[in-house]
Amino acid sequence: DETQKIRESLLEWYDHNKRDLPWRYTNTAESEEEETKRAYGVWVSEVMLQQTRVQTVIQYYNRWMEKWPTLQHLSLASLEEVNEMWAGLGYYRRARFLLEGARMIVAKGSGFPKTVSALQKIQGIGDYTAGAIASIAFKEVVPVVDGNVIRVIARLRAISANPKESVTVKKLWKLAAQLVDPIRPGDFNQALMELGATVCTSLNPSCISCPASGHCRALSIFRHDSLVLVTDF
Ligand code: ADE
Repeated sequence: DETQKIRESLLEWYDHNKRDLPWRYTNTAESEEEETKRAYGVWVSEVMLQQTRVQTVIQYYNRWMEKWPTLQHLSLASLEEVNEMWAGLGYYRRARFLLEGARMIVAKGSGFPKTVSALQKIQGIGDYTAGAIASIAFKEVVPVVDGNVIRVIARLRAISANPKESVTVKKLWKLAAQLVDPIRPGDFNQALMELGATVCTSLNPSCISCPASGHCRALSIFRHDSLVLVTDF
């Protein structure tokens, strides 16, 4: 069906076009320890990416991981050290949440939480970060919705509602949940984010290079009625 076709074209596009980023990995983890280390990396990168561009995050991420390569290392850091490392990224609350979250997980002693519901119990981990970690690091079949994903799905499904309203965002989480690929949820979620960041941009989207253009309702409406705005999201 159409959902399956969208999944396949997005995943194939992602496989060939994804950016090579330090927190991305292709092989599967060999051990629990490896898996935990990766989950920690996904967590750090996703928190950094929340208000900062990818190009800026790369340097901060590499420096952070060099200083605190595991959750255990981070849990022993001081707030001053963490803030110093964060200098320039802004929203220092995010750094404190990472530190407090790391301490909480280490204190619990039951390993890295692997599901959205377990992750949401950690200090500072909300719907977005929980979905990102669970799907990317642990393959839980859950959606992730950020500003880019909101725009991509709103266009694919021609949703004309205010993306700043919480009812709209709720609706988009629901649509994203129906869309997420059951076999490669983490790659699929990142494909949506990547598509929104590089192709399905807010201004001048590059529909010509979009793997989902054949399934995009906003584009098909736009083709027949140029008065319909598709760049509102
Ligand atoms: N923006 C936030 N997280 C991202 C990810 N994992 N891949 C691409 N863009 C992102």
